[in-house]
Amino acid sequence: MEKTSKCPLTTTNGAPIANDQASISAGERGSLTFDNWRMFEKLAHFNRERLPERVVHARGSGAYGTFTLTKEMSSHTIAKFLQCEGSKTDVFVRFSTVGGGQDSSDYARDPRGFAVKFYTEEGNWDMVGNNTPVFFLRDPIKFPDFVHSQKKNPATNTPDPAAMFEFWANNPQSLHQMTILMSDRGIPLSYRHMHGFSSHTLSFWNHKGERTWVKWHFKTNQGIKNVTNTEAAKLPPFGAQQDLVDAINNGDFPSWSVKVQLMTEVEAREYNINPFDLTKVWPHADFELIEIGQLELNRNVDNYFAETEQAAFSPGNLVPGIGASPDKMLQARLMAYPDAHRYRVGANVNQLPVNSPRCPVHHYQRDGAMAGMPPAFGTDNNQGGGVNFYPNDRINEGAPAPRPEVAEPAMPVEEDAWIKPYDTIDEDNFTQAGALYRLMSDEQKNQLAENIAEALVHATSDVQERMLAQFAAADADYRVRVSRALAATG
Ligand code: HEM
Repeated sequence: MEKTSKCPLTTTNGAPIANDQASISAGERGSLTFDNWRMFEKLAHFNRERLPERVVHARGSGAYGTFTLTKEMSSHTIAKFLQCEGSKTDVFVRFSTVGGGQDSSDYARDPRGFAVKFYTEEGNWDMVGNNTPVFFLRDPIKFPDFVHSQKKNPATNTPDPAAMFEFWANNPQSLHQMTILMSDRGIPLSYRHMHGFSSHTLSFWNHKGERTWVKWHFKTNQGIKNVTNTEAAKLPPFGAQQDLVDAINNGDFPSWSVKVQLMTEVEAREYNINPFDLTKVWPHADFELIEIGQLELNRNVDNYFAETEQAAFSPGNLVPGIGASPDKMLQARLMAYPDAHRYRVGANVNQLPVNSPRCPVHHYQRDGAMAGMPPAFGTDNNQGGGVNFYPNDRINEGAPAPRPEVAEPAMPVEEDAWIKPYDTIDEDNFTQAGALYRLMSDEQKNQLAENIAEALVHATSDVQERMLAQFAAADADYRVRVSRALAATG
């Protein structure tokens, strides 16, 4: 006997269901019949309950919050949400690990994704960063090879430290980021206890059409806390997710001080470091950190799948006043993310509530799977009977038209450039890795060396030698300590 409820159970087409627990069957011992449409609906929907997981950053946690501007930036940018001190902008943030699948551990030695969607009044700006100021690569064509080498071995389906180091031995451009990854900062205690970075150089532009290059920093107000490999192994795989949900539910809202580094176009031309090289930082001594706001997370999602899993962040989601830069990695990401979203979620990904802008959206794109969800879902019925082509003769009647005043200033090509594959083999991969190494305490250096040795010991002796040569190029002592740790491990 079914229990009664004020809320009738229905099929997805809204019809009340008489019996949800017994399939229609030809007698007690007979087979099921073809009129089991209710069971077919349940099983068919069940088969489709998963989106393809993100190819990287599959495991993550999300929450909503607020960005409060504390220093107006009108001299640098026309971005509406950066004009008035005290103004607040809603955000959705998703933290993630990179290499593992959805069912991996929150405590992998891995960078952490730090993606922030700002729902501004002139569209969504996505800051799709990491908890590290640099990245393993400066050329995007290497990204799939890099990711393959860091994920599971194709035969054993287990992590493969030998492959990881084989890639790094062949790509010295990874040394700076690899040093961060293997350091004591390689496994954050929680998502609350780490910084976030745009890593890339982005840009601002102002009402005079002047461009400034910008790096974004989100400094945790909870303090940096990390765990060692041994400590991480004892933590529950979902610990960082639990920590975030609990902190927000308990009113202990995590927050970050939002800072920027600014570089003029002239400074960029004269600076001795390529400001668009993602493997390099801009030292704070050269470009100070300027605090411009506070980011706070204060609301958990109601439904993990609908919000966190379907969230789609893209470095190409830009707003007037915020632009990209010639960073080659960023340029590739402008294409890669919307492409991933079309594959993973669908062409109308931005109609889903978590992705939908909070400001009116008017364009001439129509149709596609799942177009035109009802207004209750935050969208507008596929823009109803509105004109669906441009240019048209209905601008006076309110048809959408471009606003030339939000045009980004033209981007200069800064050199006498030839179009061809551009190999950066001669780029300096070692100075900043060495500088970072020298900033570490004795204990941190030893931890770094031990973490490297623990994994590098699985690589061939040839790979080990090439890695030791890279460490030596960064700092002689770096090589000495890793050699010693390797000998102790091997
Ligand atoms: C050429 C280089 C890169 C490529 C091709 C690439 C590609 C991708 C792809 C395809 C996804 C999955 C997107 C989705 O399904 O929603 C992703 C996720 C992500 N990537 Fe990258 N990536 C690159 C470099 C980077 C860098 C340098 C950063 C950080 C500075 C980064 C941060 C992230 C984050 C945070 C996510 C997860 C976003 C979320 O929470 O949904 N990626 N990347």
